[in-house]
Amino acid sequence: MPDKYKLIGRSYDFLSKIYSGDAILSCKLSMLNENTIKKGSKVLFAGAGQGRDVLRAAELGAEVTMVDISPTMMNKFNHLRSKHPQNENLNIHPILGDILKQEGFGEFDIVVSNFFLNVFDEEKMNTLLTHLLKLCRKNGQIIIGDFCPPQGGVIKKTAQQIYWYSAATAFFAVAGNAIHTIYDYRKILDDKGLRIKDEQFFSFLGQKFYHSILAEKQ
Ligand SMILES: C[S@@+](CC[C@H](N)C(=O)[O-])C[C@H]1O[C@@H](n2cnc3c(N)ncnc32)[C@H](O)[C@@H]1O
Repeated sequence: MPDKYKLIGRSYDFLSKIYSGDAILSCKLSMLNENTIKKGSKVLFAGAGQGRDVLRAAELGAEVTMVDISPTMMNKFNHLRSKHPQNENLNIHPILGDILKQEGFGEFDIVVSNFFLNVFDEEKMNTLLTHLLKLCRKNGQIIIGDFCPPQGGVIKKTAQQIYWYSAATAFFAVAGNAIHTIYDYRKILDDKGLRIKDEQFFSFLGQKFYHSILAEKQ
């Protein structure tokens, strides 16, 4: 299977910083703390990319499984990890492959999907989210960090749409990602019967563009 992130996988986090300042990284790390992650928590990262959030969860004592289908992204993660000797002792199990092939239903305490589900059209996004929810144990937690639905007045909403569609179009061009409206994960999780426990917003240039949601599987 061709590596869709071959072109931009190596510079993905750098480009995220140019595009969002620290907002995307803050969003990805926000729910990973002592309240959510206990020593030995089993945490799965779907579409983990370069994995700065993976390292954070492992530093907090989690047993982490990370899955990514892109060899370029996985190589970059391995490179970043090997730069710090203390990372050698972290409990991280990297899997190069399709998350839909990941089994072990009900195995994970926490499933993290940061900027992953927005890659897909609505039908595939729903298939993937349903699969991620199956991998999470009962009363386990799911964390979704991503673009948030437009809010505020007409000008703010329009700015947010332009901001999102510029990224979606660029990723369609370089990685073949789907172009779609901004997903309302809060509603989607609610409709699937999850209980929203926390939601945090992250701004760039004074506007809330991102959010991270922590929800519990009932
Ligand atoms: C937009 S990037 C986000 C990466 C990372 N989570 C982040 O926030 O920086 C989406 C990632 O999902 C991965 N991906 C796409 N389809 C996948 C699949 N079916 N299984 C596992 N990973 C996949 C891509 O290779 C890419 O690394």
